[in-house]
Amino acid sequence: MTGKKKSAQASVEAMYRVFTVPEAPESTLSRIDQNISNNLAGFLQEHIVAVERDLSDVEKNFSDYAIPEKPVFVSEQAQFLLDKLVANSVHTASPAFIGHMTSALPYFMLPLSKIMIALNQNLVKTETSKAFTPMERQVLGMIHRLVYEEDGAFYRKWMHDPRYALGAMCSGGTVANLTALWVARNRAFPAEGSFRGLHQEGLFRALKYYGYEGAAIVVSRRGHYSLRKAADVLGLGREALVPVDTDDDNRIQTDALRDKCLELHRQKIKVMAICGVAGTTETGNVDPLDGMADIAREFGAHFHVDAAWGGPPCSPVPTNTCCGASRRPTPSPSTPTSNSMYPWVLAWSCSRTQAWPVPSSITPSTSSVRAPGIWAAPPWKAHARACRC
Ligand SMILES: Cc1ncc(COP(=O)(O)O)c(C=O)c1O
Repeated sequence: MTGKKKSAQASVEAMYRVFTVPEAPESTLSRIDQNISNNLAGFLQEHIVAVERDLSDVEKNFSDYAIPEKPVFVSEQAQFLLDKLVANSVHTASPAFIGHMTSALPYFMLPLSKIMIALNQNLVKTETSKAFTPMERQVLGMIHRLVYEEDGAFYRKWMHDPRYALGAMCSGGTVANLTALWVARNRAFPAEGSFRGLHQEGLFRALKYYGYEGAAIVVSRRGHYSLRKAADVLGLGREALVPVDTDDDNRIQTDALRDKCLELHRQKIKVMAICGVAGTTETGNVDPLDGMADIAREFGAHFHVDAAWGGPPCSPVPTNTCCGASRRPTPSPSTPTSNSMYPWVLAWSCSRTQAWPVPSSITPSTSSVRAPGIWAAPPWKAHARACRC
């Protein structure tokens, strides 16, 4: 035995092996896998170093900027991850851990995530997703019903109609808000006569055709920063997000909201959307959604409720605790509505009562507690289907 350390070789055979041969039972990765499956709490306790280390210190483990030329064995990389990453991660499962919006996941997520990885479905098309697509549509239908309370006939008609979607699975609250405001923007400047619609001709021509100086999204000063990003991405500019003062309970002042909309109207600025917040990020307050829905209707604005944080806790109790957004179940061109929420919080509140079909796009390995956001709205033509965020 020369004792010379075997080094990994990059070859087609080696590549085939990582796809076809499972890790040996005694390999580092298999041992980690077994430890996690058999005793998660023990694994975390043992491997997460409880000593406070400066982040600049931890950064030293990740200072290489060149992708290594030479391959390494999976077990070598697994050991590195254990020593440098897991050891310096945050023990979210610790009873002493208080993380704003972040906590440990229930145990059932571990084996479920393995099924997800093993199946690796792609829901962009049914050829690579099959049952996952109808299940995703069912989950969207269930959440849609929580907010819009349509009857059985409605869901039998729309839930699995491939030309329509009751919502879209998104990678988080930011993309859910962006998706809703994207719909709001395109609906605010639809095709008409010779104008082929903003989604075809762009914002400049849309404003010109409809005779506006600009378009605005109005929200309370407690609106999440993702809304400002959305205004930027949608080409409206960050100043198009117009904040309105809140009361002592961090809830929007509806009089001030109406005054702001009147002011914008006088300035020939289209009130494209009004955003209510169901659960402000820092304070957890819910806006007076009913009053806001009335003002949205008055100004023909899309009414979007950002319920990424507070939405799910509103359900499954009777919807009047999360009113406004659900008050106009039938889509009306003058007041389209939408809302975004984290199904994870919803799944949590339901998981205590019944088995919950976990939306296929949750992969604990990629987005820990921040599960994908859901953007739900009345059945829009295949738009949502196309924007699989
Ligand atoms: C009210 C609200 N909306 C949107 C978001 C953005 O969600 P994400 O970070 O998943 O993109 C958050 C995140 O905390 C939020 O609290």
